Amino acid sequence: MKGLLLAGGHGTRLRPLTYTGNKHLLPIANKPMLLYGLEHLRAAGIKDVAVILGPVKEGVVEALGDGSKYGLNITYISQPEPKGLAHAAGLSEAFMNGEPFVMYLGDNLLRQGVVDFVASFNERRLDCVIGVTPVKDPSSYGVAEMDGDRIVKLVEKPKEPKSNLALIGVYVFGPAIFHAIRKIKPSWRNELEITDAIQALLTDGKKVEVHRVSGWWKDTGKPDDLLEANQLVLADLQSKIEGTFSKETRVSGSVAVESGSKTVGSVNIRGPVTIGKNCSIGPDVYIGPYTSIGDDCMLAHVEIENSIVMKGSRIESGKRIVDSLIGSFSTISNGDGAVPKGYKFIIGERSFAQI
Ligand code: G1P
Repeated sequence: MKGLLLAGGHGTRLRPLTYTGNKHLLPIANKPMLLYGLEHLRAAGIKDVAVILGPVKEGVVEALGDGSKYGLNITYISQPEPKGLAHAAGLSEAFMNGEPFVMYLGDNLLRQGVVDFVASFNERRLDCVIGVTPVKDPSSYGVAEMDGDRIVKLVEKPKEPKSNLALIGVYVFGPAIFHAIRKIKPSWRNELEITDAIQALLTDGKKVEVHRVSGWWKDTGKPDDLLEANQLVLADLQSKIEGTFSKETRVSGSVAVESGSKTVGSVNIRGPVTIGKNCSIGPDVYIGPYTSIGDDCMLAHVEIENSIVMKGSRIESGKRIVDSLIGSFSTISNGDGAVPKGYKFIIGERSFAQI
C-alpha cells in the first residue's frame, strides 16, 4: 500500500493567508495541516508517499523534505494546472506501479485516521473504499446514494442531493482507478472529478464500498473552518510545559508550552491552549480556550481567545481579540502613545477587520 497526498489547489477562499504560501501548511494546533494526513498514512503502515503540488509549492518541500524525518519516503509530483482530483490521481500511475494506495486530500482533517479503510480494502478484496459521513450541506460535496450498504450512484456536488452522505476526501484505490480516470470527461467546472472516476468503477462492476467514519471530520476550505479544526484538535490536547512561568502566571485546563517560551508578570492561560517555541507572553495577558500561538510570538497587554496566531507575530494591544486568524509575522499594537488616536491599519488585499 502506498500513499497519495494532494496538496495542490490555490486556497482562494483562505486569502489573504494563502497569498504567500501553500494552504496545506497553515497551522492547526501549531502543526501544518498536511502533517495530520501524512501521520495517518504512516500509522496505516504506509512508507512511500507521493505529494501532488500545484503552482503554489512554497514551503512544502522545505517542510517535508524527502520525508525521512517523518519516517516516510516522499516523492513530489507536479500538477501544473488545477485540472481536478482525478487528473491529480492519474499523474501518480507510474509511482504507484500497480500497488493499491490511499488518496488523502491534504486539507481534510479526520480524527480516526485511515487504518480501518485499509483493513476493509484488504480483507474484502475491494477495488475502492470511499470515506463518507452525513453532512448538513451535501450539495457542497461528492455524494453517495445508497441502498442499504450498496452504493447506487455517486454524484459530485448535486444541486438536489438524494442523500446526505458526503465523500470526505479519503479513498483507497486499486490499480483499476487509472483505467476509470482515462474514461471520464471534465465536469462543468472543467475538472476531472474523482467522484466521476469512482462512478465509472461502479459502472464497470468493480467492487466499491463506503466506509462510514466515526469521530469528527473537517474540510478546511474557509477561515471559520480553520478555527473549528483548531478547536477539534485542541480538544484532545495533552498538557506539556517545557517553557518557564513567572510566579504570577495562572494556568488551568490543558496547556502545552514548548521550550524557550516564557511568561512575564501577570498571565492567565485557560486551556486548551498551545504555545510554540521561544514565545514571550506577558505582562497582563489572558489567553482563553481554543487558542494556538505559533513559535517566536510576543504577546503583551492583551486578551485573546479562540484564535490562531501564526509564527513570529507581535500583539501588544490592550483590546480583546476573539475568533481571529493572525498570519505569520503580523503586528498588532496600540501605537506609541502619540495623538490623535485612532485605528491604524496596514492590511493587505482581501484582509478582514471587525472593530
Ligand atoms: C472535493 C471532492 C468532493 C469531496 C470533497 C471533500 O471537493 O471533489 O467529492 O466531497 O473534496 O472535501 P472540492 O474540495 O474540490 O470542492
